[in-house]
Amino acid sequence: MSIKIAPSLLSADFSRLGEEVRAIDAAGADYIHIDVMDGHFVPNLTIGPVVIKAIRPHTRKIFDVHLMIDPAQPFLKDYADAGADILTVHAEADRHLDRSLQYIRSLGKKAGVSLNPATPVSILDHVLDRVDLILVMSVNPGFGGQVFIDAQLEKIRRIRTLIGNRAIELEVDGGITPQTAAQCVAAGADVLVAGSAVFKGNSYADNIAAIRNAQTSICHETFIIP
Ligand code: DX5
Ligand code: ZN
Repeated sequence: MSIKIAPSLLSADFSRLGEEVRAIDAAGADYIHIDVMDGHFVPNLTIGPVVIKAIRPHTRKIFDVHLMIDPAQPFLKDYADAGADILTVHAEADRHLDRSLQYIRSLGKKAGVSLNPATPVSILDHVLDRVDLILVMSVNPGFGGQVFIDAQLEKIRRIRTLIGNRAIELEVDGGITPQTAAQCVAAGADVLVAGSAVFKGNSYADNIAAIRNAQTSICHETFIIP
């Protein structure tokens, strides 16, 4: 199975955002993960549509926009127009989740739903036919550089089973390192978001490769260990 890596711009140097986007593109990123925070749903503030529009010309890769905002619905068109390809809303921030997911698709974008660590899998039961991506938060959203919450591995396994044969990507966000990446992939994740583990040291390409290769070697071990 080929895993996608989505570096999170939250850990990039914001004074050189365009350059950082080009660097992770060249380093092998599959998606560009963009964290939008409102200081209300999460205790931090980041960027809005104008910044996304400004960095859009720097890459052709998929913009995976994670909306940690409440409400999200009134702003979805702005993010779509700014250049998002995937728009992910939080189940906890949306009283009308089904409507928002339908609206995202009507804008011609892929619809994602994200679950905070304490949110149960059952919230997905009646929206599975409306989503293209499910994002499991493996930290409490708001900041980069936090420690992976192990209890989310069980949630990833359950969602993988729930997805069945549907064409839905299962993405995990928060505390991803080569070690936790391997555990997430073994549990059924297909897309891994990584901020601090990518934007460090002097080779983003090596950092991305370390996350990809860690999961490959563990998968291999799974086959050879009886
Ligand atoms: C947290 C964000 C994450 C964050 C991940 O609210 O959604 O995307 O940037 O950062 P790391 O990989 O450092 O945990
Ligand atoms: Zn995120």
